[in-house]
Amino acid sequence: MYKKKQMVEVEILDLGDKNQCYGKLPDGMSIFVQGPAAIGDTVTAEIFKIKKKFLGSRMRELIKPSPHRIEPVCPYFGLCGGCKWQHMDYTEQLRLKRKQVQDALEHIGGFQSLECEPCIAAPDLFVYRNKMDFSFTDLRYLTTEEIGIEPGEHEKPLDFALGFHAAGCYAKAIDIDHCDISPEEMNIALNTVRDFCLRHKEALPVYSTRSHTGELRNLVVRKGGSTGEFMVNLVTSTHMPNLMKELCEDLKAALGDRLTTFVNNITDRKNTVAIGDHEFVLHGPGFITDRLGDYTYRISANSFFQTNTAQAEKLYFQILESAKLKESDIVYDLYCGTGSISLFASSHCQKVLGVEVVESSVLDARENARRNGVENCTFIKLDLKDIKEIEQEMGTFGHPDVVITDPPRAGMNPKAVQMLLKIAPATIVYVSCNPASLARDGQMLCESGAYRLVHVQPIDMFPQTNHVESVARFERIP
Ligand SMILES: C[S@@+](CC[C@H](N)C(=O)[O-])C[C@H]1O[C@@H](n2cnc3c(N)ncnc32)[C@H](O)[C@@H]1O
Repeated sequence: MYKKKQMVEVEILDLGDKNQCYGKLPDGMSIFVQGPAAIGDTVTAEIFKIKKKFLGSRMRELIKPSPHRIEPVCPYFGLCGGCKWQHMDYTEQLRLKRKQVQDALEHIGGFQSLECEPCIAAPDLFVYRNKMDFSFTDLRYLTTEEIGIEPGEHEKPLDFALGFHAAGCYAKAIDIDHCDISPEEMNIALNTVRDFCLRHKEALPVYSTRSHTGELRNLVVRKGGSTGEFMVNLVTSTHMPNLMKELCEDLKAALGDRLTTFVNNITDRKNTVAIGDHEFVLHGPGFITDRLGDYTYRISANSFFQTNTAQAEKLYFQILESAKLKESDIVYDLYCGTGSISLFASSHCQKVLGVEVVESSVLDARENARRNGVENCTFIKLDLKDIKEIEQEMGTFGHPDVVITDPPRAGMNPKAVQMLLKIAPATIVYVSCNPASLARDGQMLCESGAYRLVHVQPIDMFPQTNHVESVARFERIP
């Protein structure tokens, strides 16, 4: 009895999967609503999918606002795939972040009796990012207002955009000139690089993911949250020394002393990952430093570093609290990035082995230990898919009492989880930026009866977005 394109009125009751909202129609039919709705809103939604038990729809109009709804500050809100929760007040964002973790643990992991803690709030709700990755595309995303305009009449070129991918449309990017969660330097660099690239459009074509030709791929900017040091990293297909020198002068003119380093990363990979295979340093040392707690970290263009410095410090103190380290403990820090967790743990235990696949991160981790005078951390380059090698390392380094694991969004490779079960440390602290991965891997750890999940602490590293970090403590069952 429902038809595609039919408009229905629905009250939003909950959040569903993939940041969709959920409601029920008067006849009891479940409906998922895509778009910027908030729990408590009443909206009109257009049906585009009809299944036996549920409907898929897109929000078209807000009829009655939720008491948690606020005015988003960003002009790209609703288009940009980034800050999807700017229309909700912060108390509601925190409530929903905790709920996401709790729901994933219950529904995916089968952890029915565990209550996770309230989500730890961030001090800065805007201007908190220490890294931004802007994409170049040759397909600019058109806003609704721009769609009817004749091709020759557009104010901006159609075959150039530097900004963020549009929500649900990865091939295209919105050409943005300002991002509210980025510090001012990042916005200045964004506009300086865009002006330069448009002025040299012939020599600097955008890399096309369809033809795999072109130069401009990504603009990555990093600012030390505690130090203010600022890096611009332009990722291109080839190195064009004269153009890069010219761009460097433009950046220095726009940013003055605030620009501490400019690098040009080169890659010919047929993907859009903002990582270079060769690097040319055009200004400054080629890295920035940042401080967390008592430690100073060196961060290179391709190295992982937590993107919210103020919250990273809180996260690391949570990890220490969860790990309950003893002086005699041997600790493994898996997926260690630039070794930041290892250094935090180093003064509370006997020694730490950090494991990481990206070579520049391993080099940074060693350098970080050296410059902080830390002598009980060892860092090795290893793909954690190759579990045999970690067993070999264990032979020389010693059996871990505590393993801290902080995998990427996709979670741990199942073989790495099996390896954890085999080496069976007394405590596993799982740090996760994806509740679904935590729940899935946590279930693997617990289903055999080897471990139990005893504590989960969500923490907000990314205000205005639907992302949440959590620290989970698993204890081996004796
Ligand atoms: C979420 S980051 C954690 C970094 C670090 N713990 C921190 O707090 O800064 C995940 C790290 O895992 C690394 N990584 C991804 N896949 C890996 C693999 N298969 N083996 C080892 N490390 C990997 C990434 O390079 C990245 O540094």
